[in-house]
Amino acid sequence: MAQQRQPQQQPPANQGGQPAGPKPEIIPLAPEWRDAPMVGEGHPRLDGAAKVRGAAPYAYEYKGPGEAAYGWMVEATIAKGRITAIDTAAAERSPGVLKVLTHLNAPPQSGPHPRVAQNRFARPEPYLFQPEVRWYGEPVALVLAETLEAARAGAALVKVDYAPAAADLEFDRALPKAYKPANKINAGAEPDQAKGDFAKGFAAAPVTVDETYVTPHEHNMPMEPHATIAEWREGKLTVWSPQQILMACKATLAQTFKLEPSAIRVVSPFIGGGFGAKVPTHCQAILAALGAKALGRPVKLAQTRQQMFANTNHRPYTRQRIRLGATREGRLLAVGHEVFIQTTPHDEFIEQTATFSRGLYEAPDRLSTSRGVILDLPSGDIMRAPGEQPGSFALESAMDELAARLGMDPVRLRVMNEPKVDPESGKPFSSRGLVACLEQGAERFGWARRPAAPGALRDGEWDVGFGVGCATFPAYVRPASVSVELKLDGTAVGRADMTDIGTGSWTSLAQILAAELGLPLAKVKMELGDSDYPATSGSGGSFGMTSTGAGIHVACNDLRRQIAEKVAADANSPLQGANGPVRLTDGRVVMGERSQPLADFLRRSAPQRLKARGGQGGLPQELPFSAHSFGAQFVELGVNRVTSEVRLRRMLGVFAAGRIINDKLARSQILGGMIMGAGAGLTEETIVDARWGQFVNRDFAEYHIPVHADIKSMDVLFIEEREAESNPLGTKGLGEVGIVGVSAAIANAVFNATGVRVRDCPVTLDRVIAGRSAA
Ligand code: MOS
Repeated sequence: MAQQRQPQQQPPANQGGQPAGPKPEIIPLAPEWRDAPMVGEGHPRLDGAAKVRGAAPYAYEYKGPGEAAYGWMVEATIAKGRITAIDTAAAERSPGVLKVLTHLNAPPQSGPHPRVAQNRFARPEPYLFQPEVRWYGEPVALVLAETLEAARAGAALVKVDYAPAAADLEFDRALPKAYKPANKINAGAEPDQAKGDFAKGFAAAPVTVDETYVTPHEHNMPMEPHATIAEWREGKLTVWSPQQILMACKATLAQTFKLEPSAIRVVSPFIGGGFGAKVPTHCQAILAALGAKALGRPVKLAQTRQQMFANTNHRPYTRQRIRLGATREGRLLAVGHEVFIQTTPHDEFIEQTATFSRGLYEAPDRLSTSRGVILDLPSGDIMRAPGEQPGSFALESAMDELAARLGMDPVRLRVMNEPKVDPESGKPFSSRGLVACLEQGAERFGWARRPAAPGALRDGEWDVGFGVGCATFPAYVRPASVSVELKLDGTAVGRADMTDIGTGSWTSLAQILAAELGLPLAKVKMELGDSDYPATSGSGGSFGMTSTGAGIHVACNDLRRQIAEKVAADANSPLQGANGPVRLTDGRVVMGERSQPLADFLRRSAPQRLKARGGQGGLPQELPFSAHSFGAQFVELGVNRVTSEVRLRRMLGVFAAGRIINDKLARSQILGGMIMGAGAGLTEETIVDARWGQFVNRDFAEYHIPVHADIKSMDVLFIEEREAESNPLGTKGLGEVGIVGVSAAIANAVFNATGVRVRDCPVTLDRVIAGRSAA
């Protein structure tokens, strides 16, 4: 266990609660999927038309003026300290204002949660419950009014006096007090892991790299802001809220308001992006529920973009020391990865950054550690590939430095160090296509044209460079239940509380249901995004489609069993006496040599309709294999010799992620991940004002995410890979692996273009200039 990289069953840790239901078990590739094409049809999004017609409402759009009252948050203007007085009189007299809630009059809540949580996403999350201020921007009051404008005008009139306390806001100053987490860190990972004798192996290695890399605070900023409508009716709470995992939101609200989960309904059918930021239940949902309770009327509350920077997720700042020791031929002898990461006094969140180096390359002597650096900032939280993304910047930059030191091709160095089994757990991989990603990618990208030395390839005033970085992400399977109903007209409906955060679940899950039932896509329908449907683990950890898809498979197994029973019970069934298991294919029920159209069978043998509710309980704790997606990122860019600005010219991402259910949506997921990776590599960085503790650049004018003009040409290639071990569909998840490795590939390409090594991410032009002047 201690050697296991990321216990597969563990991420309840972060990814919501556990639905009651089936026990964890390994369900290998199912007969229904064995012969299916590895790359499925790229059907366009089923929800696409509704979205462009404005007929797919987001959470804020369900109730309007007259019915719902509007809220506006008042935020703390100190990083740490205490509210000494709060004057709401002027706000309450302001036209249209209905009420102002503060810690002095808010309805009761439980909590606060302990600093270290068993499950970070299912714990009490109270707000306005104490005079203490924990971070700059924490809500200190909620103004409720008839209109949005009245609420905002009222908020400007709330007067708060503080007794500020000294706050720790500078990473470097807090670094000496870094501590080792006493518990497992995010995704159930061990903070520290070792194998062999790292110190000895590193000391004896003839070629070494020992460098420190920094990754900044980053913010996941979905286009749809965090917004919630809350309504209490007869003791029951309903929230319309963008939540990636409805079960987790339900658990959070139940614990905060001391309710049974059955007294809560979460509605979230359409979500405008998540990237991890909508896994937790954030303050606007809690405050909307508090406001609705206090007013006895629905309340709607949206965080502004600026408020989101303090009150949703961010990826915490890291400082990572990588030590690599190798033979002169390039064989790794020792891999060391020490991570220091921002955390807070009120909430321990430590990304699994150190795990990135635990599974990628073979080496006998290994060490990886995680240390928390406590700052009085908002808590970090999960952001697309938490851990793997910043971890890959450090390790994959260091591998490039090692290749340069060895005078070796960076692709060849990686291929040479490919492990036969998971290097720390010793378990076989369920499937692993990293070498194929590197080799086929190099071929397709024209890697052979990579300039042999920095500055060797020029295009006008641009130095051109090529870079590569590897990607990996665990292939989780989490519990999911689904109901499936076969109607007499031969159509089917599946229901689950699964969400579509823009990833395409509406479409891919309908495709899975259609394939399971042998029906055309037009004859099946999924209903998603309502916690009244059977519970799933939702969208997170790249496990959404696989987990809910596996739930669909189990429910359809139950339908096939019921069909066999009906046949056995109906002496006149044309299928009577046929041997063999039930298969559903081409709109027919097939048993051995005989078959019957599904609609005929239903009308004749199952006139009451058939309904199944089934599910799977995720993978068990102990697995006989190690299951991960893999990828290789290739980048060509230019660095301007006059300005040192970096411009991407081409990107290629190559991935081995098992079966692809929908080619078009899978490609779209990966493109999004790669673009977000380009943001991480080139522009995304949130700066803390060390005097006051606020994130300074908290809007899209100053927090730069890539736009079309930044990304000239992108290409995605999926490697044919049979995954037969970890789930019935043979999929491995694509939500996160696409962002991993891109920032390192960019830094490596900048080095290849200029000879400047930037170890502070993102690679902005000032850092390139600093590197040029140091040279
Ligand atoms: Mo992902 S960061 O678990 O949505």
